[in-house]
Amino acid sequence: MYDAARELDRNDPLALFRDRFEPLEPGLIYLDGNSLGRMPRRAAEDVILAAKQGWGQRLIRGWNDGWIDMPTRLGQKFAGIIGCEPDEVVVCDSTSTNLFKLASAALRDLAPRRRIVSDASNFPSDLYILQGLGEVVLSDDLATDDETALVSFSHVAFKSGAIRSFESVTAVAGDAFVLADISHSVGVVSMDIHQVPLAVGCCYKHLNGGPGAPAFLYVRKDVQDRLHNPLQGWIGREDPFSFHIDYQPKQGIERWQVSTPSVLSMVAMEAGLDLVLEAGIGAIRRKSIQLTEYFIALVDAYLPEFVLASPREPEHRGSHVLLRHPEAWRITRALIEQANVIPDFRAPDGVRFGFAPLYNSFEDVAEAVRRLQNIMETKAYEAFAAERPTVT
Ligand SMILES: Cc1ncc(COP(=O)(O)O)c(C=O)c1O
Repeated sequence: MYDAARELDRNDPLALFRDRFEPLEPGLIYLDGNSLGRMPRRAAEDVILAAKQGWGQRLIRGWNDGWIDMPTRLGQKFAGIIGCEPDEVVVCDSTSTNLFKLASAALRDLAPRRRIVSDASNFPSDLYILQGLGEVVLSDDLATDDETALVSFSHVAFKSGAIRSFESVTAVAGDAFVLADISHSVGVVSMDIHQVPLAVGCCYKHLNGGPGAPAFLYVRKDVQDRLHNPLQGWIGREDPFSFHIDYQPKQGIERWQVSTPSVLSMVAMEAGLDLVLEAGIGAIRRKSIQLTEYFIALVDAYLPEFVLASPREPEHRGSHVLLRHPEAWRITRALIEQANVIPDFRAPDGVRFGFAPLYNSFEDVAEAVRRLQNIMETKAYEAFAAERPTVT
C-alpha cells in the first residue's frame, strides 16, 4: 500500500506546495480541508505586517493605501480560478448573506414569480435563506415551471460530494435565474462559470482563506445592470464619501458591496488565492481526482464495512468522499482522538473525508486508511461516547 502511495507522491507535480502551509504536529493527517483549509505560511506573515504597519502605523490613511479596493482586487483573482472576467466577482460578506442578496435580486427582477426550485442536497443555510424569500419547491431534477423565478443549487453537494453540472441545471431552468453555490468546488474543481449567471461561495475551504474568511459573489456581465442589491449599504453606493442621503448604486459588480471591508481577513485570504493561481486549477483538479480515486480503491480493498455514499465516477465527484456506517459518529471520534486523523462527521451516519491537492499526499491517504482499518478491527470506537457536541 505504501509503495504505491510513495510512487504517486514522487510523480506528483504539486508535491512541493505542501511546504507552503504551516506545518502540522508530527503524525497528524488532516482530511478536512473541505471544511476549513490549512493556513498558508504567508498568510500569518501578511496579517502581522498589515496589522503592525497598516493598522498600527498608517491607521485611517490605510484606506487610500489599498484597503478600500481589496474586495474588487481580490475579486479579480477569481478569473483564474472559476473562469469569469476580472470584473464579475467581488469579495464581501458571508456566503449566506451573498446568497440572500442575489436570490432577492433575482426574485425582484422576475416578480410576481415567487417560486424557487432547489433540492434536498443543497446546504441547509441556503435552503433557510431561500425559505425566507419565497416559496421553495424541492425537486431532485430541479424541474421548473412558469412560476419559477430562481433555481438555486450546490455545484458540489456538501455531504455526498456529487457534482451537479451547470449544463444540467441550465437545461431545465427555462428563463428562471440560476444561482450556484460553489463553496465546495471553488479552488478544487475546474469550471466554466459563465454557464450560470449567478454564484456565491466561501473562501475558507479549498481556497484556504482562514476561519470565517469573507465570501465572494459572482454576477455575469449580461445581468449586472439588471439586478439590484437589496442591502443598500453605503459601500455599494456610488461615491459613498459624498454622504448623499439617497441611494444610487455603483456600476457593475461593485454595487454588491454593503459595508466596510474586513481588511485583516482579506489580507489573510490573499495568500490562499495566490497558491491556487500558482498551482493552476487544472493541475489541482487532476490531483484531486487521483486522491479520491486512490482513497476509494483502498476503501474497496480494506474497509468493506463502509458504504460509499459519493459517486464512483470521478467526473461526477468533487474533492471529498462520504462513507456511511451506523457507528459513524464514534468512528469519527476515534479517528480524531486516537488515530490522529481529522475528517468530519455528517449526520446521521457519514464520515466525510476531504482531500486537498495542495497539501494532502497519497501517503496521507494510505496511512489514514490503515489507521481506520485498525480502528475497525479492534473496535476502538466503542470506547467513545455516543453523545454529540454542538459543532460536529
Ligand atoms: C455549501 C455551503 N454553503 C453555504 C455555507 C454557509 O456559509 P456561511 O456560514 O459562511 O454563510 C456553507 C458553510 O459551510 C457551505 O458549506
